[in-house]
Amino acid sequence: MKLTPAQLQQFDREGYLFFPSLFTPAEIKVLTDEVPALYAQRRPENVREKTGDVVRTNFAAHLYSYPFAKLARHPRMVEPIKELFGEDVYMHQFKINGKQAFDGDVWQWHQDYGTWMNDDQMPAARAMNVAIFLDEVNEFNGPLMFIPGSHKQGVLDAAHDTSTTSYPLWVINHETITGMVAKGGIVAPKGPAGSMILFHGCLVHASTSNLSPWHRVSVYLSLCAVSNHIRRFKRPDYIAHRDFTPIRCLPDDCLLKHYDVTLPWKDRFFEPLQKAS
Ligand code: SIN
Ligand code: MN
Repeated sequence: MKLTPAQLQQFDREGYLFFPSLFTPAEIKVLTDEVPALYAQRRPENVREKTGDVVRTNFAAHLYSYPFAKLARHPRMVEPIKELFGEDVYMHQFKINGKQAFDGDVWQWHQDYGTWMNDDQMPAARAMNVAIFLDEVNEFNGPLMFIPGSHKQGVLDAAHDTSTTSYPLWVINHETITGMVAKGGIVAPKGPAGSMILFHGCLVHASTSNLSPWHRVSVYLSLCAVSNHIRRFKRPDYIAHRDFTPIRCLPDDCLLKHYDVTLPWKDRFFEPLQKAS
């Protein structure tokens, strides 16, 4: 998938691109069928909401789940980012955000690169998120909100929020957000399951809680230019990966056909089987 000159201009101006229904219902089903079993696992890669047992984020499924290992090599997700950076990319982070019906909590206003710089010492904002919707995203189930053009501000001052939600994040203060929204407004791309969004590492974004009866599961690939790999290994390796190998894409039909992929963490963190007594 090659970005058109109009898309490249739009990305430069707005800081994001939205591709409604880029994946088919059959492709999405392969992924959604796998999510309940992943969320049911007791392993540190499942970060739960602060209120209870509901999964907020599952990390690194591409290293232990066959369908997600293929998604991590999908050309529709990876090729546009390679094109934007003009070089190979590696997987800095892979997550399946739950935003579950009634329980899905907020994500405060932030820039992804703020966290990657402050926590991981990533040298430049040559990394970005590309996300696909596994459920329909509508106005009620906590859509991702962007301030268009905010990526042009570079890295903004941020404070480490370790209390609002169950996941620590470098967040931007309300005064700054108010000023930026007065200029750029807010957009919230909505659409069917299978829609894809890519957005600049400095684009300011957030999402509200999900009080609707509809889950809002989305998968985020955080892809980093290989030369821009992180320099500090402070966060767990399932949150900030240390393997800087360039991603080699599979063919475009990879979700619907079999392709060999490695699952190096398949048995990681599980208790060994009890010996029969
Ligand atoms: C994120 O910003 O990393 C996630 C936001 C969301 O899923 O709403
Ligand atoms: Mn983010």
